[in-house]
Amino acid sequence: MDRIKKEFEEKLEKVKDFEALKQLKASYLGKKGRVTSLFKNLKNLSPDEKKEFGKKINEVKDYFEKLLDKKSKELFERAKQESIESEAIDITLPARNVNLGGLHPITKTIMEIEDIFRSMGFGVEVGPEIELDLFNFELLNIPKEHPARDMQDTFYINDNVVLRTHTSPTQIRVMKRQKPPVMFISPGRVYRRDSDITHSPMFHQVEGLLVDKDIRFSDLKGVLSEFLRLFFGDVPVRFRPSYFPFTEPSAEVDIGCIICGGKGCRVCSNTGYLEVLGCGMVHPNVLKNGGYNPDKYTGFAFGLGVERFAMLKYGIDNIKLFFENDLRFLEQFSFAKGRSL
Ligand code: PHE
Repeated sequence: MDRIKKEFEEKLEKVKDFEALKQLKASYLGKKGRVTSLFKNLKNLSPDEKKEFGKKINEVKDYFEKLLDKKSKELFERAKQESIESEAIDITLPARNVNLGGLHPITKTIMEIEDIFRSMGFGVEVGPEIELDLFNFELLNIPKEHPARDMQDTFYINDNVVLRTHTSPTQIRVMKRQKPPVMFISPGRVYRRDSDITHSPMFHQVEGLLVDKDIRFSDLKGVLSEFLRLFFGDVPVRFRPSYFPFTEPSAEVDIGCIICGGKGCRVCSNTGYLEVLGCGMVHPNVLKNGGYNPDKYTGFAFGLGVERFAMLKYGIDNIKLFFENDLRFLEQFSFAKGRSL
């Protein structure tokens, strides 16, 4: 017994990994192991000897198991230590510079406008940029001889198809597929034959439409005043009578000039005010064309130019800057520029 013990201890001493440990265990405690075979000899002994000898073998077995367990823990700790050391990361090394892209200021402005209207409960819809004359003009109560149809302003694809000149056709499209009430905004690209420092042949608008029972002009004033306050901050807002074929009554909305604070400057043509929105109560003909009963439902609509909103908010004086994609301009809107992560 003592010899087996000594032998085992020596062998255990030499064990360097789990595989050797497993083998050692098998050769002593396994089915054909040394200790196991000692049990087999018991049958040749007298009952008294059996008892004494059996006890001894069990003690050795327990002792071996304890030693094996201890060794296994040691091996595990060592392996853990080794992997910690070999996988160590030098956190004092400076990180590589990661240049993140930024969102285009027009995208940012649209997202900000969407956030404000979403917070008021408006949904977001989109319409096609290549649009039927029918939706772009006819069903919006724009008669054939209306100046907005002039070849000067509209890009025609053929007699019946145009590049939409505004986002208002979305009003008709949504009304035709959805029963009242409706409450949505619709951002997107629009096209007009126009180009100078504040006009571009392609630009962005955000349309808005709310139709339900008992919608009044005061609802329009409330929603748009709050929107302008949230977008521009506390600026004076005024509603001026205007004309659009698809709204009646119609209005244009001005805010106090944010360049000069209302004193009068080049940007506001010395009026102290800047026009920012077109709006009005949806014309009964337009409700009818959308499939709504104008005796039961009323609503308001509005349209705004995204580039104009962005130019006023960020103090940009040339609309071309949005389309040239000069990084020196765009990077000013990318907060992550040159930051390392
Ligand atoms: N569609 C108009 C434009 O492009 C804006 C507008 C929309 C006015 C909705 C009134 C109501 O100028």
